[in-house]
Amino acid sequence: MKERIESLKKEFEQKLSQVRELQNLEDLRLSFMSKKGAIQDLMKELSRIPNEQKKEAGAMINSFKQEVTARFEEKKEELNRAAEKLLIESTESYDESMPSDLLCGSYHPITLVQRELEDIFESMGFDVEDYKEIVTDFECFEAVNIPKFHPARDMQDTYYISAKNQLLKSHTSAAQNAILRKYGDRLKKEGRPIRAVFPGRCFRNEAIDASHENTFFQMEGVMVDKDISISNLIYFMKTMLSEVFGREVTVRLRPGFFPFVEPGFELDIQCLNCGGSGCPTCKNSGWLELCPCGMIHPNVLKLGGINTDEDLFEYTGFAFGLGLTRLAMMKYGVSDIRVFNEGDLSALCQFVSK
Ligand code: PHE
Repeated sequence: MKERIESLKKEFEQKLSQVRELQNLEDLRLSFMSKKGAIQDLMKELSRIPNEQKKEAGAMINSFKQEVTARFEEKKEELNRAAEKLLIESTESYDESMPSDLLCGSYHPITLVQRELEDIFESMGFDVEDYKEIVTDFECFEAVNIPKFHPARDMQDTYYISAKNQLLKSHTSAAQNAILRKYGDRLKKEGRPIRAVFPGRCFRNEAIDASHENTFFQMEGVMVDKDISISNLIYFMKTMLSEVFGREVTVRLRPGFFPFVEPGFELDIQCLNCGGSGCPTCKNSGWLELCPCGMIHPNVLKLGGINTDEDLFEYTGFAFGLGLTRLAMMKYGVSDIRVFNEGDLSALCQFVSK
């Protein structure tokens, strides 16, 4: 048995050294390890030898089998490495001279800000919703109290699609009606307040410059329940903004007009740069305009199926429209909005480590 194994070992090593491809390696493996292979033949022989030699012979066969298995694995590794090397050498598109910091992928700064906000709102019990980019005139305007020919439409001129009264949404408020309808039943049956945020890409017909883009991002939020007041709005905004900026922020409300909120406000935060004393960042006013918001107009709640004519104020709520793009500019100190859409990697890759 010993001689038999020794000669098989030699034969195996000799054949192994000639193998150049994975398929041949597999053939060799089968010729040794399969049911009809050489090792199985040894096992058959084992049954025929005298009992007192069986133990020793069995151990020899076993260690031979382990050795063969290990050598196969080694060879397989070796062949795989060689194949990989060949592939790399033959690939022309790989550019070694490319600066290494551009080779790593990174999230877009707006995605980073969006995810951070989603986490914060989720921790305050808000559902995060997605919405369409192509919406109907009803969703974008009529459902949020902007009837046809209302002057507020001028500020939100967008891109119209001739089919079926559709357009590229000019603000995330276009999803308000769908959200109110989606969660309205739950509110009425289970008494669970509607708390939802919905981030999204928005479009407007703008002349592009350092602070205007035709494509930008907002994050809309709504909360509806019995007895929701402006205090709730202030509390949520203040908590969220303190988290975003990593320190306590001071906020103030100024009157602002939007047809879908009444009263409507512009929410400002005290300038984080100068602490309110006035500097170039806040144009010496001490305040930064951050987020339009207000109490949801009764018409919007009615059109969303929340209240009826019998009691237009049974449920109340607030809404806000955070400019995600603007927030990203403030957070990362970006002074030109065009950076976000240009796809210039040397600019966008800088946000990886922040
Ligand atoms: N949709 C408004 C805009 O884009 C912002 C807004 C949202 C204002 C919610 C009030 C409440 O201008």
